[in-house]
Amino acid sequence: MIKVSAPGKVHIIGEHSVVYNKPAIIAAISRRCYVTAEKSRGITVKSPVLDGGVSFSAKEAKSLAGNADRLWGECFAKKDFMPLFKEMKKSRENVLKAGIGKILSELDVNKGASLEIDSGIPFGAGLGSSAALAVALPKAIAELNGKKLSLDELNDISYKLEQYSHGTPSGGDNSTCCFGNIIWFQKEPRMIKTVDVGKLEGFVIVYIKKPEKTTGELVQLVRNLDEDYRSKRMDAISKATEEMLPALKSKNGKKIKQLMNIAQENLAELGVSCKEIDEIAEAVIGIGGSAKLCGAGSGGTMLCYHEDANKIKETIKQLGYEPMEVELGVEGVRKE
Ligand code: MEV
Repeated sequence: MIKVSAPGKVHIIGEHSVVYNKPAIIAAISRRCYVTAEKSRGITVKSPVLDGGVSFSAKEAKSLAGNADRLWGECFAKKDFMPLFKEMKKSRENVLKAGIGKILSELDVNKGASLEIDSGIPFGAGLGSSAALAVALPKAIAELNGKKLSLDELNDISYKLEQYSHGTPSGGDNSTCCFGNIIWFQKEPRMIKTVDVGKLEGFVIVYIKKPEKTTGELVQLVRNLDEDYRSKRMDAISKATEEMLPALKSKNGKKIKQLMNIAQENLAELGVSCKEIDEIAEAVIGIGGSAKLCGAGSGGTMLCYHEDANKIKETIKQLGYEPMEVELGVEGVRKE
C-alpha cells in the first residue's frame, strides 16, 4: 500500500491578479489531503464526498478525459469556460474519473488502482482542496506503478487536472501544494521560487461560508469585466504583492496590514467579495488588524493578521465564527 499527502495553500496576497501574470505569495498550510493506493483490477475511488465510492475502468476514465480535453479546447478558443463548468457541475464523479483518466494517460499506465481520499482541507474554501488532490492523486498513482516523477513533472500533471476544474488557473495553487513552503509564484514568465521570510506569526484563517460561486466561475466573472477597470485593480494588487515580500521578511506588521487591506479593497471592487467577508474585514480593521478573502472568494475562508493574533481570534469569535488552527509554510507533497 502507498500513502501520500499534499498540503492545502493560502494566498498571503495575489489571488486573481496572478491569473493575469502578476506575482503572488502563497503558503502551504498544515491541512493535508491524503491518498492511499493499492493495486487492483479496475479503478475504485473512495472518498467521503462521493457517498462511499465509485468503481470504473481505465478505458472509461481515459475516454472521459478525452471529452474534457475537447470541451476545454472549445472553451479556450471562445474565452468562455461556462460550458465546461456546467458539464463539470453535472457530476462530481465524472470530473474525478476524467482526472484519473488524464493521470493514467500522462503516466502511460493501464493498470487498476484502489484509491482512498481523506482530506482535512475544507472543500472549495480557497485553501487549495482541489489543488492538493490534483497533486496527491498523480503522486499516489505514480508511486503505485513504480514511476519516478520529479516535482516539476508532477506539478505539470497537477496543472492539467486543475484546468478541468477551473478552466484557466494560474497554476499557483498546485505549485504551492506540490513544492510546499512559501512561494513567490508567477504564471508567465513562469517563476516558482521558495522565499525565506522566517516563521510567519500573527496570521489567522477563518472559515466564513460555502462560496456562492466556484473558482472557475469567479475567474470568468473577473475576465468579463471591463479591461481598463480590471487592469487598474490588478496593478494595485500587484504593487502590494511586490511590497509584501520585504514587509514579511522584516516583520513589518504595519506594512503587512496596510498591503493586505489594499488587496482586499481591490478584490471587493473586482466583485469577488461578499457581505460576510466585507463585515469581517471591517471589524478586523476596527481593532487595528487586516483581513482579506482567500482564493477565488464569494465566501470560503479569510486570512486575517494582527501582531497579536489573539485579538483577531476574539473578534472573530464575537462575530460568531471559529478561527482555524493552521501553520503556514509547511512541507509540500510527500510519501507518508
Ligand atoms: C484560487 O485559489 C486563486 C485564483 O487566483 C485563481 C488561480 O490562481 O488560478 C483566484
